[in-house]
Amino acid sequence: MSKRFTGTIELANGVKMPQLGLGVYKMTDSGQTVEAITYAIETGYRAIDTAAIYENERETGEAVRHSGVPREELFITSKVWNTDQGYDSTLRAFEESLEKLGLDYLDLYLTHWPVSEKYVETYKAIERLYDEKLIRATGVSNHHAHHLEKVFVKANVAPMVNQIELHPHLTQESLRAFCKENGIAVTSWSPLARGKLLAEPTLLHIGEHYGKTPAQVIIRWHLQNDLIVIPKSVTPERIRENSEVADFELSSEEMASINELNRNERAGTDPDTY
Ligand SMILES: NC(=O)c1ccc[n+]([C@@H]2O[C@H](COP(=O)([O-])OP(=O)(O)OC[C@H]3O[C@@H](n4cnc5c(N)ncnc54)[C@H](OP(=O)(O)O)[C@@H]3O)[C@@H](O)[C@H]2O)c1
Repeated sequence: MSKRFTGTIELANGVKMPQLGLGVYKMTDSGQTVEAITYAIETGYRAIDTAAIYENERETGEAVRHSGVPREELFITSKVWNTDQGYDSTLRAFEESLEKLGLDYLDLYLTHWPVSEKYVETYKAIERLYDEKLIRATGVSNHHAHHLEKVFVKANVAPMVNQIELHPHLTQESLRAFCKENGIAVTSWSPLARGKLLAEPTLLHIGEHYGKTPAQVIIRWHLQNDLIVIPKSVTPERIRENSEVADFELSSEEMASINELNRNERAGTDPDTY
């Protein structure tokens, strides 16, 4: 078996999304960002998760366009930032993102946070982009079930993805169950809890058994939970390491012992209080 993970998740509209992608939040050095994304694509990553607020859409586009990999084999996600939310301003923000990326379409476009009074209209604009075939799938981020329920009332097509903070310290069981019932795929952001989980003895112990690092064990836990996972790294060895997770499988006992690490503890902000 190849070590490199290449699986996909089928979204509600049949589009296949790579289950493992590269997150690019906090990649601020322009040259380093292009190098990291270029290296990731060379290594076999096919999905890149950026956002307008990360201020690296130009670099993402540059790496994608110069990768030599056909555009249709790559899956590019971006997100509309909070200050651009609302119907018309979302459409304008999308146009700007597309221009910065230098692409003709995006694979997935998300509402970054549920800005109150605005997130439903923001999603309606995302639906329009989908109708106009400027994006291949619709989605949201940081939406609790109560936000999604408000979106459902006005939506013609339910969001296909919800990208939320999720890792072994914040397992989000009830929101995952809600998304599953409603045909929404879940993407885990900060899947490594921004590095806070890497010294966890349970993960070290499981990793030793397979000759894998704690980061690889955590990524495998996300994948075996049918989650889409987008670890971020600018470090070539880590970018490679994070993708080499296809040659081992966690047992149900190991999955359960990782579930037990849950503390409902966030590394980032709660969407209800941000
Ligand atoms: N929708 C949202 O609101 C939202 C919020 C946050 C994040 N996100 C998305 O989710 C992605 C991932 O989340 P994140 O960047 O917050 O956190 P993360 O992926 O959990 O952790 C990234 C940190 O872990 C380090 N790291 C990565 N792989 C490692 C390895 N194998 N061994 C040791 N350290 C490792 C990285 O260091 P180096 O880079 O120095 O190697 C970086 O400091 C983001 O990049 C972004 O695309 C979305």
